[in-house]
Amino acid sequence: MKQAYIAGNWKMNMTPSEGAAFAKELAKAIEGTGSKVMVAPPFVTIPAVLKAAKGSALIVAAQNMANHESGAYTGEVSPLMLKDLGVNDVILGHSERRSIYGESDEVINEKLLLALKHDMNVVFCIGETLEERESGRLEEVLERQVRVGLAGVKGDQMKKITIAYEPVWAIGTGKTATPDDANDAHAFVRRVVEKLFSKGVAEATVIQYGGSVKASNAKALMSMPHIDGALVGGASLSLEQFLPIVNFDK
Ligand code: 13P
Repeated sequence: MKQAYIAGNWKMNMTPSEGAAFAKELAKAIEGTGSKVMVAPPFVTIPAVLKAAKGSALIVAAQNMANHESGAYTGEVSPLMLKDLGVNDVILGHSERRSIYGESDEVINEKLLLALKHDMNVVFCIGETLEERESGRLEEVLERQVRVGLAGVKGDQMKKITIAYEPVWAIGTGKTATPDDANDAHAFVRRVVEKLFSKGVAEATVIQYGGSVKASNAKALMSMPHIDGALVGGASLSLEQFLPIVNFDK
């Protein structure tokens, strides 16, 4: 099995002072863990979290970034600004960016290519809505999201990309995909990556599951052959809930 990659997406939670206090404890608590661990704070909380995590193995990522380097884009944050802070990781294409802020597959692809241009690591999110799943369009939707989102990416750049499969109906709802359903979707995504690149790239790609991951289901999800990690929302906001997910194998 690959090294597990457990990430916490804080969404719009944690002020700079709350984030710093949390990250300090988390950084200490993950010493010696076998998993790769990341947190993605809101933009303004990032500097305080970077300071608190300094010298530790905790990766600090952004939740989003602009598809431009600079210019008249009010309210946006450039990859150059993130890099200048020391942030090398970014989540792109989260379903909340897609559904609430109207980000298309094409815009997400522009962001992803820009992140790669700046040598950043990307957690690239995909996932179907309940309506898409129930109307039998699961594979069509996932294939489109992967093909368009990764257009123009070269095989050797895929090591910079983690794919996060987050079925929209499982996010923040308490409903988790069963380990078998999640594994089937991951296996399908891996086949699409193989078609686009190669078997070697597909096997090496880390695919996280996201959507109501908690301490009680992390182990069962992580034991599936195609699930290599987790992207955690709500349960990443307390150490009590997040640490057992990080240490799912203990
Ligand atoms: P929840 O874990 O709160 O369902 O959120 C999942 C998610 O969207 C992580 O990016």
